[in-house]
Amino acid sequence: MRVLGIESSCDETGIALYDTERGLVAHALYSQVKLHAEYGGVVPELASRDHIRKTLPLIEQALNNAQLKRCDIDAVAYTAGPGLVGALLVGASIGKSIAWALGVPALAINHMEGHLLSPLLEDQAPDFPFISLLVSGGHTLLVDVQGVGQYELLGESIDDAVGEAFDKTAKMLGLSYPGGPALAALAEKGRPDIYSFPRPMTNRPGLDFSFSGLKTFSMNTWLNSGQSAQDKADIALAFQTAAVETLAIKCTRALKQVGRNKLVVAGGVSANIALRQRLDALKGITVYYPRPAFCSDNGAMIAFAGAMRKAAFSKQQTSNFSVRPRWPLDQLDPP
Ligand code: KG4
Ligand code: ZN
Repeated sequence: MRVLGIESSCDETGIALYDTERGLVAHALYSQVKLHAEYGGVVPELASRDHIRKTLPLIEQALNNAQLKRCDIDAVAYTAGPGLVGALLVGASIGKSIAWALGVPALAINHMEGHLLSPLLEDQAPDFPFISLLVSGGHTLLVDVQGVGQYELLGESIDDAVGEAFDKTAKMLGLSYPGGPALAALAEKGRPDIYSFPRPMTNRPGLDFSFSGLKTFSMNTWLNSGQSAQDKADIALAFQTAAVETLAIKCTRALKQVGRNKLVVAGGVSANIALRQRLDALKGITVYYPRPAFCSDNGAMIAFAGAMRKAAFSKQQTSNFSVRPRWPLDQLDPP
């Protein structure tokens, strides 16, 4: 079965073709980063308009690269949420139209489930069950994953997501959008042990996160510093170290609580090298990640999630709803 995947939940148009026999046969991505950079963040209306321009040409490009025709598509998986409503509607309308025209199922995929399953695209894929840490611009989630569609939410951010905290701290330090990778690059020039930032919510039980205080702590430290280039790098490093350490403490707690020895990390922040080094050092735990290109938003994870759902749930229906800008991972269609 060949599944066309369409991702358009935020500022990346991602298209892919996943073949259940041959694996990923094509993927194409268009990032809107340049479009939004001058505004310092994503402008939803501009994002929707750009998805309209890019989605169909990228689908043609992916089909050409895979040397497939439209009639070779057996199902269409599109991101139905969570995300920006206008951007989601573009992918959903195009996806459902193509599925209708071809007479194949249209599968509404949860974007976070796409991230969650993305490490399973790799050669060294984990078996179920495992603990998943999902770290993106909109979410910080700890999930116990027993199988496809069997997700128990263990903890989540009660305020800013970790990616959002990276982005806001970077913006406050005057770094360009998107802030996460820029802050991580600047942190490499920082000196360790100049500042020690708090590890929020680690000294009380539970698996929830809070990152907005860390962002404010960074801002106050910056305002009270000499505001030199070195101060900026030192603060970037202190922020990143505190965020990474907080994630590592909560992951360790979750693995212990549920009794698992496999950790899967996905979402844009899973590209962060310091986070990977810290988690890879956890004793007795094997950690799995998507390849760097599939950490941030992409069509491959949506096509793959569509194929996995179709295989796992014989009753998986063509979706009868359009998009859900808010769609918690524990409210997916039951098997
Ligand atoms: O998964 P993603 O591409 O989009 C969402 O679903 O939100 O994640 C984007 C987030 C942004 O906040 C971005 O700054 C962050 O991931 N990010 C990073 C790094 N690369 C991307 N944060 C820290 N270090 C990185 N290397
Ligand atoms: Zn994402």
